[in-house]
Amino acid sequence: MSAPNSSFDPKQVAPLGEEQVFAMRDEALAAIAAATDLEALKQVRTEHAGDRSPLGLANREIGALPPQAKKDAGMRVGQARGAVNQALAARQAVLEVEAEERMLVTETVDVTLPWDRTPRGARHPITMLSERIADVFVAMGWEVAEGPLVEAEWLNFDALNLGADHPARTMQDTFWTEPAENHVVLRTHTSPVQARTMLTRKPPIYVVCPGRVFRTDEYDATHSPMFHQVEGLVVDEGITMAHLKGSLDHMLQALFGEGVVTRFRPSYFPFTEPSAEMDLVCFVCRGTGLNDDPDAEVPTCRTCRGEGWIELGGCGVVNPRVLTACGVDPERYTGFAFGFGIDRTLMFRHGVEDLRSVFEGDIRFSRAFGTEI
Ligand code: PHE
Repeated sequence: MSAPNSSFDPKQVAPLGEEQVFAMRDEALAAIAAATDLEALKQVRTEHAGDRSPLGLANREIGALPPQAKKDAGMRVGQARGAVNQALAARQAVLEVEAEERMLVTETVDVTLPWDRTPRGARHPITMLSERIADVFVAMGWEVAEGPLVEAEWLNFDALNLGADHPARTMQDTFWTEPAENHVVLRTHTSPVQARTMLTRKPPIYVVCPGRVFRTDEYDATHSPMFHQVEGLVVDEGITMAHLKGSLDHMLQALFGEGVVTRFRPSYFPFTEPSAEMDLVCFVCRGTGLNDDPDAEVPTCRTCRGEGWIELGGCGVVNPRVLTACGVDPERYTGFAFGFGIDRTLMFRHGVEDLRSVFEGDIRFSRAFGTEI
């Protein structure tokens, strides 16, 4: 009698033999070693360690094996998978470090590089001073008014009591536009804004108007065919010359500091009566007219050229004829007006010697005013 068959329990099952499992493992390890970046490694992980990889499929097959073979194959496949997973983790760590290093190199920001080589625009000192002057009046409750640079002749002259045959009409050298019969000029002063304001609103009127004006002047150290003025106009009941002086003193104190000394010098403007020129005591020589440096080449003060006073602009009580021309009842209302050169004020306030530097756009000029560019 033959001995009973021992149960069929081969140790080695062909598809999961040592050689095959080692081959799968080695192939996986080689692929892992060959992966040069994280993306490639991800691919290798799916191909060699995923459910559908040779080792993954082998692992699934184990369950169907007879006990002894199952144990052996399980151990082999398990070890192989362990080795592959370990290699994957190690390679992953290496590639992560490499990727980070690469990123640090390629995305480096050199914080020492200059970032401000391209200058940004900034506001011009004239703009800043115009706004500053306007602010002084706005703080007193005045409004800012504006008018066009290209103006009707009637508003620039006639409404302001400068009739066609008025000798004062030639006081200002006018740019006329063509055709002449249109009677359009480049405004020679900001005073037409007075007329525009009175024609469009009712008193009480408290307005200030900074802006550009044009005259056929030569371009030199003290003249320019385009320059800036600031106009002021008040029309209300009971307004006198004293209100004018008080307002201007206030403005000049705000611009030049406490204790500025001003004076009114009789003058003539067709649109004001009485009229005055407003002078400011020279704040460099304080009225002496002398250069405070005794060794200086020029003995006289350079700011006021020895005058002791600086002429700022014209002003006066609004001529009743102007009120009438602009539809304001001169029996009920009175007013005052003034017009100052902003460029001149800037020059005096900051010791600018040549008017042209105001217009030439050299940023070194603006920088001297603390403009950050
Ligand atoms: N418009 C005058 C000028 O340009 C200045 C001025 C304005 C004078 C208002 C009196 C009143 O010179």
